[in-house]
Amino acid sequence: MSRRKIPESWCHMSASACALTVMVALAVNPANGQSLPAAYAPGTARILPVVAQNGMVVSQEATATLIGVDILKRGGNAVDAAIAVGFALAVTLPRAGNIGGGGFMLVHLAKDHKDIAIDYRELAPLATTKDVFLDSNGDAVAAKSQFTGLGVGVPGTVAGLALAARYGSGNFSLAALIAPAHKLARDGIAVEADLADSLTASQPFLSRFSSTSAVYFPQGAAPKRGDTLKQPDLANTLAAIGERGPSAFYTGPVAAKIVAAVQSAGGRMTLEDLSAYAAQEREPVRGHYRGYDIVSMPPPSSGGIHVIEILNILEGFPLGQMGQGSADTIHLMAEAEKLAYADRSEYLGDPAFVKIPVRGLTSPDYAAQLRATISTDKARPSAQIKPGNPAPYESDQTTHFSVVDADGNAVSNTYTLNFNYGLGLIADGTGIMLNNELDDFAAKPGAANGYGLTGGDANAPAPAKRPLSSMSPTFVFKNGELVLVTGSPGGSHIITTVVQMIVNVLDFGMNVAAASEAVRTHHQWLPDVLQAEPGLSVDTIRALEAKGHKVVQQPAGGSAQSIHRADGILMGAADQRQRGTLAAGY
Ligand code: GLY
Repeated sequence: MSRRKIPESWCHMSASACALTVMVALAVNPANGQSLPAAYAPGTARILPVVAQNGMVVSQEATATLIGVDILKRGGNAVDAAIAVGFALAVTLPRAGNIGGGGFMLVHLAKDHKDIAIDYRELAPLATTKDVFLDSNGDAVAAKSQFTGLGVGVPGTVAGLALAARYGSGNFSLAALIAPAHKLARDGIAVEADLADSLTASQPFLSRFSSTSAVYFPQGAAPKRGDTLKQPDLANTLAAIGERGPSAFYTGPVAAKIVAAVQSAGGRMTLEDLSAYAAQEREPVRGHYRGYDIVSMPPPSSGGIHVIEILNILEGFPLGQMGQGSADTIHLMAEAEKLAYADRSEYLGDPAFVKIPVRGLTSPDYAAQLRATISTDKARPSAQIKPGNPAPYESDQTTHFSVVDADGNAVSNTYTLNFNYGLGLIADGTGIMLNNELDDFAAKPGAANGYGLTGGDANAPAPAKRPLSSMSPTFVFKNGELVLVTGSPGGSHIITTVVQMIVNVLDFGMNVAAASEAVRTHHQWLPDVLQAEPGLSVDTIRALEAKGHKVVQQPAGGSAQSIHRADGILMGAADQRQRGTLAAGY
């Protein structure tokens, strides 16, 4: 097998990081001499992905990415690397990486052709009542779910990452996978500009809690770029989890401190809630799009269902002919998105509490019925759209990372504290930042959550219930071979970001980096506006307005971290909308 250093032109990151990416012949797969897809040839796009052969990690923070690559190089598989990255991000990206929140992991085991969905979503405490986020008039009070201990869900991350370890290579103990994170917390991280700016901007919010100020602002001011940030309490907690497993988090002194912190902030969590928490394995949701197989996250995330529902609707339109970024394509995406988000508001919730018409919502026949209501010329006002009836056919705050190893095993993981830094409360003496995930419940039918998403009884608060999510870690396969691993943060924007990643790669043949950097649009039914990142041409906006869209330009919420696999070669793209992201492989 011939090996050549990747030319500089293939790297869109720092030279030192690029040196870690090894070694394919230009536009040729050294394993078999075949050409890589044309979209990957230099000169075909303004941006090219990072290329590697033996393993690839893409995350929102460079140190965590490199920790994952190191685990792969030392004989770990994709799951081992993902666990190490998940713990590392809790130290290096504290606004979203976490052990005090929750999320969803999709695992692909190549040898067994098996896909596993790990649900480690937070859970409402047992004392949660349906009216927990209402005032005495019965009105929803966002501050209760967003800024008090009532919004804290029982964290799932530690249980989820520990459960994932059963699919690791067996070459690493949990302690060994936590060790890099532990070292970073104990010895300190060099504060990068992204973290310094984030902590500075969030200081008023975080300083509401003295336990949080003591960690981030011990001298009064936020750390500056180049300072060292040590998190000794977090280091001790990580060490305890490494030694004793999840029980060191869910029982004993750490659990007692979490409960004390939540209750002091007005919440109702108890030791019983923590000790009862369990991550769950679920069957992924599956769909097909233009000859590819889509595998994604099932409820209590709405993500997979609605990614598939939107793709099903779009499959009936010749997007490839309409062109990437054209008004026609954007219009049809928006119309499909409105229909899906309307269904989301009606049908989606925790499957332990509500019967979700998964098969109907992901059915091509149902999509055909919805598609027939779409005009190619005219936007339909959201007020005219109501949730459909799928029954006869029987959906910068978060962070995502993707990993693929040399054997084609893969992990797509999205996890979160909900908002940046969640509730902003570090449980004193633990270093654990606590989430405000229960804001993802519908406080009452029709009340919008922090992302403007509405819901009904299916997503009402209830004891031991998981709030509905939009997180959409996703795989795409062709004839059983892994082709794409993708996912994104962004609250309500997650689903539309993932759809656009898939459409850009499959319909428009873009390389994965160009697919990631393309201008994104978003419609979530309510409010009735078509959000567009800056970068659409004035003519395109005019053409969309002529179809009846109200176009609002605003920065995108998504930050896709993706890996495209072709002919065994891995091509990674870390979203350039955020600083500090990194795709690296070897
Ligand atoms: N907290 C955002 C989500 O789960 O969708």
